[in-house]
Amino acid sequence: MNPYEQAYAAACNDPESFWAEQAAQLIWYRTPTAILQRDAQGHQRWFANGQLNTCYLAVDAHVEQGRGAQTAIIYDSPVTGVQQKISYAELQEQVARCAGMLRELGVGQGDRVIIYMPMIPQALTAMLACARLGVIHSVVFGGFSAAELAVRIDDAKPKLLVTASCGIEVGRVLPYKPLVDKALSLAKTPPQQVVLVARAQCEADLQVGRDHDWDSLMQAAPSVAPVAVAATDPLYILYTSGTTGKPKGVVRDNGGHAVALNFSMSAVFDAQPGEVFWAASDIGWVVGHSYIVYAPLLRGCTTLLYEGKPVNTPDAGAFWRVIGEHRVKVFFTAPTAFRAIRREDPDLKLAAAHDLSCLKAVYVAGERLDPSTYQWLHSFLPCPVVDHWWQTETGWPIVANPLGLTAYPTRSGSATLPVPGFQLEVLDDQGQPCATEQAGNIVIKLPLPPGTLLTLWQDDARYVDSYLSTFPGYYLSGDGGYRDQDGYVFVMGRIDDVINVAGHRLSSGALEEVLGTHPAVAECAVVGLDDALKGEMPVGFVVLKQGAAIDPQTLQAELVQSVREAVGAVASLRRVHVLKRLPKTRSGKILRKTIRALALTPQVPIPATIEDATVLDELRELFEREGCYSQPPRERG
Ligand code: COA
Ligand code: AMP
Repeated sequence: MNPYEQAYAAACNDPESFWAEQAAQLIWYRTPTAILQRDAQGHQRWFANGQLNTCYLAVDAHVEQGRGAQTAIIYDSPVTGVQQKISYAELQEQVARCAGMLRELGVGQGDRVIIYMPMIPQALTAMLACARLGVIHSVVFGGFSAAELAVRIDDAKPKLLVTASCGIEVGRVLPYKPLVDKALSLAKTPPQQVVLVARAQCEADLQVGRDHDWDSLMQAAPSVAPVAVAATDPLYILYTSGTTGKPKGVVRDNGGHAVALNFSMSAVFDAQPGEVFWAASDIGWVVGHSYIVYAPLLRGCTTLLYEGKPVNTPDAGAFWRVIGEHRVKVFFTAPTAFRAIRREDPDLKLAAAHDLSCLKAVYVAGERLDPSTYQWLHSFLPCPVVDHWWQTETGWPIVANPLGLTAYPTRSGSATLPVPGFQLEVLDDQGQPCATEQAGNIVIKLPLPPGTLLTLWQDDARYVDSYLSTFPGYYLSGDGGYRDQDGYVFVMGRIDDVINVAGHRLSSGALEEVLGTHPAVAECAVVGLDDALKGEMPVGFVVLKQGAAIDPQTLQAELVQSVREAVGAVASLRRVHVLKRLPKTRSGKILRKTIRALALTPQVPIPATIEDATVLDELRELFEREGCYSQPPRERG
């Protein structure tokens, strides 16, 4: 057996010994002896009687072990022209003070803090300072609207919110404070205090008694040492889209998370202490939590914090510039970013000026790496290109090419093999194992490895219902796919109503709620249709109320605007079509999958449960008019 096969077998056959061995690589205040506790419903607790501190492991431990002078964070911000290097010793000083600031503001263990910030070093400091105190952070992506922020505030009930005066998008300053003020006024349980990082690009008004200036408080704050927390205490809540309008608050623990991320850095990413690791994502997503903040720092790498885009900041050579300039060893982004670069610079003229020989491997996730983009990357990159599949819920890769254990030959369209700890199976809808190459539900046999979600915040029933009840004994991933004769896993996309736009998860239900509030709309459906750049784009289909007099253009403009306001620009809803009727089952369920299929080809299997198949003719005509059938179908590999 090769090292991958050995590790995979060990993690399957004796998970407790395998993960106890991984846990022994970290420093614990109290070494765990109870490795895995499980209950009949499928809940699990890793390292229940262990005590540790994630911030200590990510920061202080490196200083104590002589890495104080090493750069912990490289901040590269083409949108402001700022570059900054922060050593582990400096980070420790900042984080200890920030923890002191939080404590002085009355925030303590188990309290929640919402972090609504752009990609600046203070965002990482705030996250780590929460971890230092055992405070549970919940980072909300800066592209979400005030209304979405308010929903998360009401769910997490934070004591404090940390923000900045603005974010910066291509050529635009986006003031955050008006959004925060609006969110606080919409929320039923707003935090009593706000701390704001004032950026040079934008001033913000501070409300006396509630709002504080970050710099002033930090100057006066005492340094605070890490506190010991239980391995099972929550480190963070991260909201992600489910199929309904209410986001799911994924709860991550401290102990399992640290152990799993540390393991992933060696087994999957083959990243060594001291190497520069760059995940070009955003701290608001799980990729940012795991691979901008926690994993690289736990491993003693230098993490790169990039405040910019793949294109337009200033051009499609930006990624190559950053890789070459900072000697990035491991690079991680979403396929959509490479498609954006390829669209602008197909012949890679802008890459030629940069020395990419530092790269050991490039990883992509967030959506499937389509074969065409894979071939393009493979043709010029001096290193392996690794597609790997995972989710907010798992927190780290489920399927990957385990370069740190055994490098496997890549198969275009496949994310390669299950990572040790994830016992992956493909089941049909009746729960029977699928044959080789037969597509079905991708599930993971329990127990899940450490680092995966504990539950959903304040909604354990939804956790059990969403993930554990469809196939007892298995975690339901929500993705469909198959395995080939050698066990390579091909993930083909969501089997539920989650839409994946540029690697971001959106719920069709949340967007439908917004369209449904328009006075002219009787009913609606939002479906993710294939898009050459973003993978999928949400498209709305609405039926008007009897007698509604509004022209389709005006209606579309109003609905697009209301989605921007209610969800955020990141939803990218640009098209809305008016239909006479929506295709539905006899019990009234909208057939979104059929709409999606019809956009690809006019001949689709007619669902047996459809109420009236003639409804599909109107959709066929629409997609014909839109030119959907004259484009080559996207490669499915
Ligand atoms: N704060 C505020 N607004 C934001 C934002 C943020 N952090 N991020 C995005 N937005 C806004 C954009 O300004 C844009 O607004 P607009 O409609 O007014 O122009 C809208 O949300 C859509 O943004 P985006 O999805 O970035 O699309 P784009 O067309 O501007 O750029 C890509 C396309 C492919 C370059 C971009 O989607 C990208 O960089 N993707 C990488 C994805 C990624 O990192 N995913 C994380 C998972 S690994
Ligand atoms: P998120 O929770 O936002 O990270 O989104 C997770 C979802 O993105 C998964 O359930 C998949 O649908 C999709 N996804 C992520 N990575 C991949 C990948 N490598 N291949 C296919 N789909 C992916």
